[in-house]
Amino acid sequence: MSKIKVAIIGCGSNANAAHIKAYLNNPNAEIKYFCDIIKEKADKAVLDSGCGEAIEDYRIALNDPEIEAVSICTPNHVHAAISIESLRAGKNVLCEKPAARTYAEALEMQKVQHKTGLVLNIGVCNRFNTGVNLIKKMITNGELGELYHVYVSFRSQRSIPGLGGTFTTKSIAGGGVLIDWGVHFLDIVMYCSGDPLPKTVTGQVYSKLGLDMPNYSYLNMWAGPPNYSGTYDVDDFVTAMIRTEGPTITLNGAWAQNIGVDEMYIDFLGDKAGIRLQYGKDFKVYGAKDGVLLETTPSYKSVDKFQNEINGFIDCIRTGEKLPSHIDSVILSSRIIQGIYDSSDLNKEIAF
Ligand SMILES: NC(=O)c1ccc[n+]([C@@H]2O[C@H](COP(=O)([O-])OP(=O)(O)OC[C@H]3O[C@@H](n4cnc5c(N)ncnc54)[C@H](O)[C@@H]3O)[C@@H](O)[C@H]2O)c1
Repeated sequence: MSKIKVAIIGCGSNANAAHIKAYLNNPNAEIKYFCDIIKEKADKAVLDSGCGEAIEDYRIALNDPEIEAVSICTPNHVHAAISIESLRAGKNVLCEKPAARTYAEALEMQKVQHKTGLVLNIGVCNRFNTGVNLIKKMITNGELGELYHVYVSFRSQRSIPGLGGTFTTKSIAGGGVLIDWGVHFLDIVMYCSGDPLPKTVTGQVYSKLGLDMPNYSYLNMWAGPPNYSGTYDVDDFVTAMIRTEGPTITLNGAWAQNIGVDEMYIDFLGDKAGIRLQYGKDFKVYGAKDGVLLETTPSYKSVDKFQNEINGFIDCIRTGEKLPSHIDSVILSSRIIQGIYDSSDLNKEIAF
């Protein structure tokens, strides 16, 4: 069978760290185009990868009948537009997370996916993580008993990305810590608890520590350096409570807080057992048996979640299999995130 020809759209950090490597390692895929509006980035990707052609306009790839798939690794403001244009051009799409800046944009993407019947997967890479899948299995098998609540913390002391850049400009990113980090955490919760339908959301977001940009103190800045003449109009803290048809969910997230620890975990609370997942690391299971409190750290061999995600994407183009990262699953967390922003803006609970 011939290889699936792919175009990478957006050759920045994430494309280089995850997508490109994974396609190069997949025997059934071949990268034909590297596209970036900054030509040097596309040129460098060609040089580093030893294949493909550098282009500045993704429409060149969309007009090429040989291209079957695109990976969209651009900032969030063009996720919806490029995904929709790609689907309409007959291409299968893997679009980075978040699906889009707003729920309305994500719905539009879903509508076009349904119309075209092509693949539209979102880069919710944790759905391809070994530990996350083990937790999902334990919950599904009833090992936690009734899963009644999930507590989520994604709080860092000082970790605002690229102050004044794309990540802190609402018209580009759609939001701050909630949409950037929260989307991953919420997605793990939704996936592990069986994508339960949300019923109500109440939340509040704050833009505090980064607002006075020149006086924001930090040790390191990912996606930096700061651009003090840029924009900072996104949330750097969020708190929310979500009622679903499954567990209730509470979350607290901070790109920056005046507390000197990073707390990145998800607590799954069941009436028989509980699990704390340390984000990106391992998990512990807590329970009790015969009057004894138990604490276990499962040991397992992890696969590379990004490789798994890309392999799944390439395979499902041929097999038609619907992966857990399909827009139909991911749309629920888009809806919840929008609900939290709306609740904060309107100062009231949102019922779905
Ligand atoms: N799944 C994950 O764990 C993960 C991790 C990091 C980033 N991301 C997501 O990946 C996306 C990119 O993030 P990043 O950190 O790589 O950002 P980045 O700024 O490093 O890269 C984005 C690239 O897209 C290019 N670009 C912008 N508009 C374009 C267009 N119209 N056509 C072609 N290229 C265009 C930019 O020039 C830039 O090189 C974001 O949506 C982010 O949320 C996901």
